[in-house]
Amino acid sequence: MKNLRVLGLMSGTSADGLSLAYCAVNIRKRLVKVSAYHSFEYAPDLKREIESARDLKLEEISALNFKLGKIWASYCVKFLKKFSLPNPDIVSSHGQTVYHSSKQKHTLQIGEISFITEKLKIPGVCDFRPQDMAAGGEGAPLVPFFDEFLFGEKEPAVLLNIGGVANISVTGKNIKTFGFDVGPGNSLMDWAVSVYSFGKRTYDKNGEWALKGKPDLDKIKKMLSAPFFSKKPPKSLDREEFGLKFLKSNFNLSKEKKEDVLATLNLFSAFCVKKSFSFFNILPKKVIVSGGGALNNTTMKNLSSLLPFARVISIKDFGIHPLAKEPAAFALLGALAWLNIPNCPFSSTGASGPRILGKISYPFGRPKL
Ligand SMILES: Nc1ncnc2c1ncn2[C@@H]1O[C@H](COP(=O)(O)OP(=O)(O)O)[C@@H](O)[C@H]1O
Ligand SMILES: [Mg+2]
Repeated sequence: MKNLRVLGLMSGTSADGLSLAYCAVNIRKRLVKVSAYHSFEYAPDLKREIESARDLKLEEISALNFKLGKIWASYCVKFLKKFSLPNPDIVSSHGQTVYHSSKQKHTLQIGEISFITEKLKIPGVCDFRPQDMAAGGEGAPLVPFFDEFLFGEKEPAVLLNIGGVANISVTGKNIKTFGFDVGPGNSLMDWAVSVYSFGKRTYDKNGEWALKGKPDLDKIKKMLSAPFFSKKPPKSLDREEFGLKFLKSNFNLSKEKKEDVLATLNLFSAFCVKKSFSFFNILPKKVIVSGGGALNNTTMKNLSSLLPFARVISIKDFGIHPLAKEPAAFALLGALAWLNIPNCPFSSTGASGPRILGKISYPFGRPKL
């Protein structure tokens, strides 16, 4: 079986931009090799539009679906040109989540893939979550499948992705891979930074504000008493569950020092991870961090001190840029869907069994597998 060239796309709940990973995928060889990665940052207006998507009118949501598809298509072209890459065999896109409710059991990812398949003249795979939910799952997290694929034959390890929402999985030799969403990752910190900087900054670069502040442990304890943290997995989270409202109900942003608020939120986010370890039967000695959180030095420091039994390292030590992991994961899931092979991490999502997730679009005809 020759390698499949897959362009994986991820636009996460942080609405920070589109991350792209150009991958060589070979299922038999258990290979996902990222040969190029880049993130295109969204303009502030677009970021705001995505963040407020749940309050938009139907007409506006419909427009945003097409708008994102067109923007992503232009990013794909720029990306391939920037790295002088040949056209991939397929493109695979998670889509932009504008609504995900574990309680009401529905989800919506937008960013019309037709514009990408039309521009690149290749097939596309998208919309992975609904089939999992139709099969009784949470629809998320789907990345544990990738974790098992790459790390499932190695020493047991925890894979932790800290995006807007943080998710975790434990995998390794002789272990049944198991993962779930653990809590807000960067989202509360991002909201606070945006409020304090009047929208001029979108995140606490390298965790510099958090490093200078003093965390409030009582507040952390109170926030950790939210029912989500004691709920047994499978469980998934929408950014909104720990959104601006949650932030404002726990902090008085006009009175409290920004450094202290960031220090508290940063440590809280690490405590959410620590708390999630109580759902594991084993304590792996390695925690491999990805997502924007891996670029936040204070987050990495807090994780190391809260998880003294483990070595906390960035996924970059395995040759994967922290922001390339999720697009690479969707490159793998898309490749599997394309090859007609189950790609559902049902022991993590709670779906009733193996499924092939993702909808395939082949506007230029269905080629032979
Ligand atoms: N250099 C950095 N220092 C601190 N935080 C960062 C840095 N780069 C990115 N981030 C954080 O990571 C987030 C984006 O992470 P990402 O994994 O793309 O999340 P998502 O999947 O939700 O889009 C940003 O919103 C920001 O909070
Ligand atoms: Mg992102």
